[in-house]
Amino acid sequence: MNNTNWIKAFAPATVANVSCGFDVFGFALHQPGDEVEIKLNDSGTVTITEITADNNLLPHEAHLNTCGVAVQHFLKATNPSYGAEIKLNKKLPLGSGMGSSAASAVAALVAINHATGNRLSRKELLPFAIEAERIACGSAHADNVAPCLLGGFVLIRDKETLDIINIPTPSDLLAVVIHPHIEIKTSDARQAMRKTLSLSDAVKQWGNTAGLVAGLMKADYDLIGRSLEDVVAEPVRSIFIPGYYQVKQAALRAGALGCGISGSGPSVFALCSGEVNAHVVSNAMQAAFQDIKLKSDKYISGINSVGAQVLSSYKNQQP
Ligand code: HSE
Repeated sequence: MNNTNWIKAFAPATVANVSCGFDVFGFALHQPGDEVEIKLNDSGTVTITEITADNNLLPHEAHLNTCGVAVQHFLKATNPSYGAEIKLNKKLPLGSGMGSSAASAVAALVAINHATGNRLSRKELLPFAIEAERIACGSAHADNVAPCLLGGFVLIRDKETLDIINIPTPSDLLAVVIHPHIEIKTSDARQAMRKTLSLSDAVKQWGNTAGLVAGLMKADYDLIGRSLEDVVAEPVRSIFIPGYYQVKQAALRAGALGCGISGSGPSVFALCSGEVNAHVVSNAMQAAFQDIKLKSDKYISGINSVGAQVLSSYKNQQP
């Protein structure tokens, strides 16, 4: 048995889609994020013995919880005779559009990989995280798990071959994420999507996805802003977010480069240049939610280029 210490890992929140890149763009924040502790054993089974801060909403059965599913798939592929005990500190809000299910799976994978000698690369861990997403959302999308595991702003060019490209971003690019206190299930938000697109919408959307990549790589803020347009998901999903267009307008008036739905919502993100602008924008967005009596939390973060991390390793007592 490689390591029978408790291994504690952190995995960050992520913003998926980034307006024009439904299922193909995502980036990682520095905070908030989930923490998972794992201890290897030789039981051959995975058990979740503790979940904190989830308001008793998450299942303890390993095969129903993303952190359990991810570890089950990992051990089945690498060390079938091993088992593991898991504790999940669920710091990310559920159904928030901030990659909550992805973060639990990714933190668990980074911890179990460390416990078994770090034999798999971050990219090799991805299929296990994608399987966990399938359990949580009924869809195996990679635009939360990939930036969560790998860090940075990523393009999932092809999910089948895991052709994932890290897009450089300007150093003073900041993300504002406002989480209104309502919950939207990703599975419901995906169900609502139209199954076909008109050619003119498709042309608009792929023009914007290419524009966003070029804008990020050239640090062309104007181009980034022009490209943060979504004619695919926003028209359908905005209906589930009270006050969405008022919040977006408030962000743009306050000087955001662009604004859109974070993942499947209800969180709304804005990209900003510099800290002063990010604070002004975040206050304006929260005030717009407050105008319709919707409480919210706000997060401001640069792009986290590292992704999930092992925090500590300890015997029995937490250091
Ligand atoms: N691309 C996914 C969706 C992300 O929009 O359904 C979910 O967080």
